[in-house]
Amino acid sequence: LSFTSIHPKHFGNHFHWGVAIAAAQNEGAYLEDGKSMSIWDAFARRQGKIKGGDTPFVAADFYHRYKDDLLLVKALGFNSFRFSLSWARILPDGTGRVNKQAIDFYRKVIEECLKLDLVPFVTLYHWDMPFALEKEGGWTNSLVLKWFGRYVKVCAEYFGDLVKNWIILNEPLSFTALGHMLGQHAPGRRGLNNFFPAIHHAALAQAEGGRIIRELVPGAYIGTTFSCSEIIPFTQREEDIKAANRVDILMNRLFIEPALGMGYPKDDSFPLLKKLEFFTHEWRYIDKMRFNFDFIGLQNYFPVTVKHSNIIPVINATQVKAKTKGAPHTDLGWEINSESFYRIIKKFWLYGGIKEIIITENGASFKDKPENGMIKDDKRIAYFQTHLRALLKAKKEGVNVKGYFAWTLTDNFEWNLGYSARFGLVHIDFKTQLRTIKHSGHWWREFLQGG
Ligand code: GAL
Repeated sequence: LSFTSIHPKHFGNHFHWGVAIAAAQNEGAYLEDGKSMSIWDAFARRQGKIKGGDTPFVAADFYHRYKDDLLLVKALGFNSFRFSLSWARILPDGTGRVNKQAIDFYRKVIEECLKLDLVPFVTLYHWDMPFALEKEGGWTNSLVLKWFGRYVKVCAEYFGDLVKNWIILNEPLSFTALGHMLGQHAPGRRGLNNFFPAIHHAALAQAEGGRIIRELVPGAYIGTTFSCSEIIPFTQREEDIKAANRVDILMNRLFIEPALGMGYPKDDSFPLLKKLEFFTHEWRYIDKMRFNFDFIGLQNYFPVTVKHSNIIPVINATQVKAKTKGAPHTDLGWEINSESFYRIIKKFWLYGGIKEIIITENGASFKDKPENGMIKDDKRIAYFQTHLRALLKAKKEGVNVKGYFAWTLTDNFEWNLGYSARFGLVHIDFKTQLRTIKHSGHWWREFLQGG
C-alpha cells in the first residue's frame, strides 16, 4: 500500500481529524487575569528540574494568540481541536472562588472553534494541578476527589452548553509515575508512598469526573486518555519475557482495567500489585473506579524494549534504547515503529469493553531548523504516513476508531525537556513567537483537502 493510496475518506465520513495541545504547554500568561501557579509553574522554579532552565510562563502564548492558532488549525484542514483547561486559571485557589476572566477566556476559545467549524474536545486535566492544592498533598490527598469533583462541576456548568466532547484525564500513568514515583515531572514526588495514593485517587477521579459530566451535560460524548506502548522483551529468555510482562502491567494495564470495571491488574508474579491491592482495599472501590466511557483515547509514540535487571528496584526491568538496538528513532531517541502502533491498538481493542477509540495523541519530535524560511521535516511526514497506514489497517480489521489527533499544533513547552523538544506541525521561534508552518503541516493540509 503506497501512501498515495490512502485517503481521509477511508477512515469514514464523520472521522475526527484534529490536533491536540495542552494549557500548561501552550497558554503561557501564567499569572495573568487571575490565574494562580500550577505545579508546573512551581516545579520550573526549582533549580535543575527543567532542561535549560526553561519555564512554561510564556510558552506558545496561546492565551493571547488563540485566534491565530485556531486559524492555523483550520488552514491545515483539520475539523477538530483538542485543548485542556487550566484548573489554576479557573479556580485560582483550587477550590472555592471561580475566576470569571478564565471563564471568559475559555468561552472565547470555544466560540472561536465553533465559528471556524472546528469541533472542540476539552481535556479537564492535563497535568497542571493548582499549586495551592499541591501544598495540601495534591493527588496524594484523598480530598483531591472533592476538589476535582467541584472543578469538573464548574467546567460542566460554564462550558457544557457549548462543548459536547469531554476528556477527563490525560494519561494518568504519566503524571502519577513521572510526577509521584520518579520525581521527573511536577510535582516532583517520589516513592511508592506517593505513587500508590496518586494512582488510586486518579483512578477514582477519572470515573467520578465521567459521572459528573454525564449528569450535568446532556448529550455529552465522554472519554479519557491512556498512554500506551507495545512492550517488547529484548530476548526470548524467560527473565526478559517476565520483565516485559511487569512493564506491560504498569504501562498499559494499570488504569484501563479499573476504568473498565475489572479492578487493578491481577498477576501473582508481580508483588507490587499485591501491595497496591492491600494499600487501596481495591474491592471496596471496584465500582467507583469504573465508568462507561463513550470512547477511550489512546496516545502512542513508541514501543518499549525491556530486559531483566537486578539494579532497578520494584519492577526489576530496564529499557533497551532504540539506538542500542539499532532501530530507527526520533531525535528524542524514541523508537519509530508503526507496526507496534497497530499492535497496541489491537491489544486494547481486545478487552472488548471499549466502545470507540480515538487516537488522542501521536507524533514525533525532531530538531527542526528553519532554512530559508522553510522547515523540511520529512521524517515527521513519514512518521504520520506510516502511523496512519497502521491505524487504517486496525480500522479495517474491525477496531472502531473514530478519530486521530496529531500531537501537536505548534512547538510548545515539552514538560521537563522545556523547549528543546519540538513536536509541532508549526514551528515557533520562541524569541519572537513567529510561527512558520513546517512541511509536515503543509502535508497534512494536502492530505486532508484531498478528502
Ligand atoms: C504525552 C503528553 C503530551 C506531550 C506528548 C509528547 O505524553 O500527553 O502532553 O508532551 O506526550 O511528549
